[in-house]
Amino acid sequence: MSATPNPTPNLTANPNLARTAPAPAAQRSGAVLDTTGLTAFYGDFQALFGVDFHLDAGEVVAIIGANGAGKSTFLKSLVGLIGNAADMVHFDGQPIGAMHPSAGVGLGLALVPEGRRLFSSLTVEENLLIGGQHTRREGPWSLEAIYDLFPVLGERRNNPGQALSGGQQQMVSIGRALMSNPRVLLCDEISLGLAPIVIRDIYACVPQIRAEGTSIVVVEQDINQALAVADRVYCFQEGRVSLTGTPAALTREQIKAAYFGLAEAGQPSKKTAKSKAIKTKQNGGRGA
Ligand SMILES: Nc1ncnc2c1ncn2[C@@H]1O[C@H](COP(=O)(O)OP(=O)(O)OP(=O)(O)O)[C@@H](O)[C@H]1O
Ligand SMILES: [Mg+2]
Repeated sequence: MSATPNPTPNLTANPNLARTAPAPAAQRSGAVLDTTGLTAFYGDFQALFGVDFHLDAGEVVAIIGANGAGKSTFLKSLVGLIGNAADMVHFDGQPIGAMHPSAGVGLGLALVPEGRRLFSSLTVEENLLIGGQHTRREGPWSLEAIYDLFPVLGERRNNPGQALSGGQQQMVSIGRALMSNPRVLLCDEISLGLAPIVIRDIYACVPQIRAEGTSIVVVEQDINQALAVADRVYCFQEGRVSLTGTPAALTREQIKAAYFGLAEAGQPSKKTAKSKAIKTKQNGGRGA
């Protein structure tokens, strides 16, 4: 793997993917959410290796990366579904890495999980109400506000989840998360398996959610979509941040190298070439 010099000051490329966790960076003041040297394990298997990340208030940040890069693990670590040392994750400057998952919603963290996970026999409205059932913070989101955001859900409010299209189910999943009035919305692959026109409708909600004061993290397989929606992008590779910067500062070559891991002179490594084949299949051709 060849080293690439940092081309701009606001771009941090790490194509060497150092095997040791980096020294903890100083916690960023002003970030609503940040991680410092974040690691994550499934038993003996290590999935994250020292991830430094920050999300500022009002930002939309996208996380991209191949299958198995650690994107979902990262989101699970942020909401306490995977436990960590307390000071590896900070929310508003408070260490939350060791919190119980049930505490995250009260703080203002809401996860839109991969695969939507609706109660298929419950109606749209019942599914939405579950989102605010246990912990509902003060804020702008209510059933009516969700129906304004996604009018089709208002029309179908009494339909069971199983009667909805994939795009409508995704809208319910986002709406359910918003019902807790989160300060940070974490979205895992909200466009997966949806047609481009539906993806456009789903992403149309992002400016309004941001305008209501919510910061957003989107894990997104479609790189073009990620670059279009985000203020900043993090690329994950094999449990590490391989590239980060603003969409304007990142070149296609840098993103490809960071996404797939180029072994030498533009050749993907065996492992990442396999990931690419899988991803291209899953995406119906939407890749880097
Ligand atoms: N419950 C689990 N138990 C053991 N290993 C897991 C578990 N979940 C994920 N992993 C492993 O952790 C690594 C990171 O997985 P993760 O699901 O975070 O990747 P991802 O970037 O979200 O991938 P995808 O694009 O396929 O959703 C992978 O090697 C995966 O096999
Ligand atoms: Mg995932």
